[in-house]
Amino acid sequence: MKEGKKKGDSAGSTSGLSRRGFLRGAGLTTAGTVVLNNGLLAFDSKAKMAKGRLYPADAADIMLRVNGREYALKVEPRTTLADTLRYQLGLTGTKVVCDRGSCSACTVYLDGKPVNSCMTLVLDVKDQEVTTIEGIAKGDELHPVQEAFIDHDASQCGYCTPGMVMSCVHLLENNPAPTLEDVKHATRGNLCRCGTYPHVFKATLAAAAKMK
Ligand code: FES
Ligand code: FES
Repeated sequence: MKEGKKKGDSAGSTSGLSRRGFLRGAGLTTAGTVVLNNGLLAFDSKAKMAKGRLYPADAADIMLRVNGREYALKVEPRTTLADTLRYQLGLTGTKVVCDRGSCSACTVYLDGKPVNSCMTLVLDVKDQEVTTIEGIAKGDELHPVQEAFIDHDASQCGYCTPGMVMSCVHLLENNPAPTLEDVKHATRGNLCRCGTYPHVFKATLAAAAKMK
């Protein structure tokens, strides 16, 4: 045994980090940390309670404009816009399906441009106006695209539907007389596992005709 090396420190030791040292470090980390059940959220001892929620010390106070209303919120820096909309504002029309920027179910507008809200940190929104599916209708009056989705049976399980509607409404706002190819192009990032695409295309073209 080499000088200074203790029995039991050699197993699994690489680059000077022994199993014993690793466990000791993990123990120290655990002492100052509370890990919640979902395993995602770690708080230090300065965690605060505010309005019944537990926030880490680095939570930020922000103003968020959503569908014409202003909200004062406290958010963790890691929080996505999608989670803020759903869990802090209760705007659950925005769906989170893949949570990794692949399906566009979570599409909302930032200053009128469609974005994947699961890939947008809420701190990055700053003073941009957020529009969600709840902001597309005028009160009880559905947007013509929403009406057309109902009329043309363009929804099955519905998980992709809010994102599809957001993409189609954005298309018609920028191109009032789209071709079928235009509609396909506008919804190319919206994945529908139920395969409602033909109905979505028909509905959007019908809405365009109605809005002329
Ligand atoms: S949930 Fe955001 S892209 Fe799929
Ligand atoms: S309607 Fe089910 S995923 Fe599109």
